[in-house]
Amino acid sequence: MKSALAILSLLPVGSFASWAGNINYLSPSVHHPSLGISIRRVAKRSVPGTEYTPQQLNFTHGVASGDPYATSVILWTRAAPMMDSVNDDGGVTGLSPMYWHGPEVTSTAPVCVEWKVAKDKAMKQVVSNGKAYTSSDIDFTVKVEATHLKPFTYYYYQFNICNSNVKSPIGRTKTAPRPGDHVSRARFAVYSCAFYAYGYFNAYGHSARKDSVDYVLHLGDYIYEYARYGNTGEGPDIGRVPQPEHELFTLYDYRLRYATHRTDEDLLLSHRTFPWIPTWDDHEVADNSWRDGYTKLNNTENSFIEDDPVSVDQRKMNAVRAYFEWMPIRQVDMDDNLRIWRSTAFGDLVDLVMLDTRHYDRSITTLYYNDDYIGSIADEPNRSQMGGRQENWFFRQLSESQKRGASWRLVGSQTVFSYLNNTKPTPSDFNYVFRYDSWQGYTASRNRTLHHMYSNNIQNNIVLAGDSHASWVSDLVWLNSTDPDPRPEDHPDYDPRTGRGAIGVEFASTAVTSPGTGGWNPKLEVTQERSDFAVKINPSLQWTEQHHRGYLELDITHEKVKTTYFGIPSVMSRNRDEFVMGEFEVRKDENRVHRPAGGYKVNSGSAKKYLKV
Ligand SMILES: *[C@@H]1O[C@H](CO)[C@@H](O)[C@H](O)[C@H]1NC(C)=O
Ligand SMILES: *[C@@H]1O[C@H](CO)[C@@H](O)[C@H](O)[C@H]1NC(C)=O
Ligand SMILES: *[C@@H]1O[C@H](CO)[C@@H](O)[C@H](O)[C@H]1NC(C)=O
Ligand SMILES: *[C@@H]1O[C@H](CO)[C@@H](O)[C@H](O)[C@H]1NC(C)=O
Ligand SMILES: *[C@@H]1O[C@H](CO)[C@@H](O)[C@H](O)[C@H]1NC(C)=O
Ligand SMILES: *[C@@H]1O[C@H](CO)[C@@H](O)[C@H](O)[C@H]1NC(C)=O
Repeated sequence: MKSALAILSLLPVGSFASWAGNINYLSPSVHHPSLGISIRRVAKRSVPGTEYTPQQLNFTHGVASGDPYATSVILWTRAAPMMDSVNDDGGVTGLSPMYWHGPEVTSTAPVCVEWKVAKDKAMKQVVSNGKAYTSSDIDFTVKVEATHLKPFTYYYYQFNICNSNVKSPIGRTKTAPRPGDHVSRARFAVYSCAFYAYGYFNAYGHSARKDSVDYVLHLGDYIYEYARYGNTGEGPDIGRVPQPEHELFTLYDYRLRYATHRTDEDLLLSHRTFPWIPTWDDHEVADNSWRDGYTKLNNTENSFIEDDPVSVDQRKMNAVRAYFEWMPIRQVDMDDNLRIWRSTAFGDLVDLVMLDTRHYDRSITTLYYNDDYIGSIADEPNRSQMGGRQENWFFRQLSESQKRGASWRLVGSQTVFSYLNNTKPTPSDFNYVFRYDSWQGYTASRNRTLHHMYSNNIQNNIVLAGDSHASWVSDLVWLNSTDPDPRPEDHPDYDPRTGRGAIGVEFASTAVTSPGTGGWNPKLEVTQERSDFAVKINPSLQWTEQHHRGYLELDITHEKVKTTYFGIPSVMSRNRDEFVMGEFEVRKDENRVHRPAGGYKVNSGSAKKYLKV
């Protein structure tokens, strides 16, 4: 956090230090300090007599930690006035305290929060602590960096309102190993696509209750910008109404949507149990967003008058600001707050590269009315899914990872990377998964990535993807032929039977709650038929499951990556049910899904038939 210090140094020494401790006040640009919140002005509002009493304040949305480094981690909470419980409606009518983010503040005074990090759950052996202020300017969020920690170590943390006994829940976190450290095992849970109205976030709670991973990776669609049920207009009536009850445009809208999500008990549990390393997908801003727009925006005068009360840039700024306020992440480039792409080393075991294939510098994508046009230009070499700057950085990360000898390269991608064609020969509604909104609409970007891997012999690559609301396991391969009949002679460079010619594996995860290819209440015959069809016509696809919501867990050692896909039987209630949909292995240097022998297991969905034991 060199840049944070740079800003600090502009302030008088001492008095302002704890004000600047809250990263959310900082300008997203070192060269434009005026874009930050003026900490001096906030501090001036701290007038005795107008301040909130500790009893008027609470930690309304839990605690969270994220972006672990070897010696530091980001800690998050929200310390807000409980407006309505101060009144006498008990939060029954009007805005409940959980949702209060509005401008009707009775006092503009900032709130003082203390935090501490301890080695033990009882919070006795404190190793790091500090003080930070927050205020309505940043939605009462608190984000601090706890430093001077030991690598790959569990810590507990807690916030309290200054000089009081009003305390947050205790969170647990874990630092990353140092890049050079020998690490024998690391485990990750992988999530994407959590639509609030469509179900309970049981998936988030499962890994926490099992305590089965070290870190959580989120590939985006943590929230959706839609009013309630998205553009389908229908869904279950289970009382999950996301706030506000209209589409998100303003900063206030986006903040309130994050606040709604952080009332789900299982999401809260995951945040306080594991450090998260998230990236965003399209819906953190708007459906099918790209560099200059999103679905609903036709860039006609009408789009602004009828649909969008704000400009593309303003909406993106609102969305991005709320994201940084609410998510426990670092801004790795202080002069580019649209840059969320970043990497983390986990000892000699794993390099994790988190991409932004959505907002950063993405060429135009499918916006429904232009789908055929995008299909026709998908192969144009001048299209890019992430922009030249990010792409060069990405390739450099892969090369450096190989050079330093990390056993595995994990790549977090929002959208599905591998060739996937579910187009039935006869017209049908099957086109859902043949989407030019994925890497399939940017084949030049995909080819350049594969070219970089093949030509530099960069092996042991694991691509992770979300966005599609279904589960997919594919050999990672540059397909020279996509002939649906997988005879080896059709694929001179790739044999789907053995996986020869592949250079890694893609594990694409289903949604936490968002409806899949069969709608929010799918029929098994329909989803099964789709899975069967998909494995039949896609050469590199080894398994798919299109029925269940769920998540996956990666258990990584130097010898292998073991991947378990968990399915959730029902998200219509908060419950603890789950089952193993499929279990897969990637052995070191095999660069493909390990074929039947050795624990290959599938309980749901459809696998290539020659892989069945
Ligand atoms: C403070 O928040 C916690 C967790 O959200 C809640 O359990 C508790 O009842 C709240 N305290 C008050 C005084 O409202
Ligand atoms: C956007 O433009 C397309 C093509 O002209 C049209 O079909 C669609 O209705 C427009 N959408 C909006 C929201 O204006
Ligand atoms: C991209 O290249 C194609 C030719 O392959 C050309 O027709 C098109 O105008 C180019 N697009 C841009 C945005 O440069
Ligand atoms: C997708 O598969 C269908 C056959 O099912 C085929 O006609 C079509 O050409 C394929 N599309 C692409 C882009 O590979
Ligand atoms: C990407 O590679 C495939 C397979 O070799 C090829 O058919 C396609 O034309 C390539 N596309 C681009 C844009 O390079
Ligand atoms: C076929 O795939 C290989 C990688 O296996 C790649 O190097 C080659 O350029 C591809 N050929 C074409 C024509 O796309």
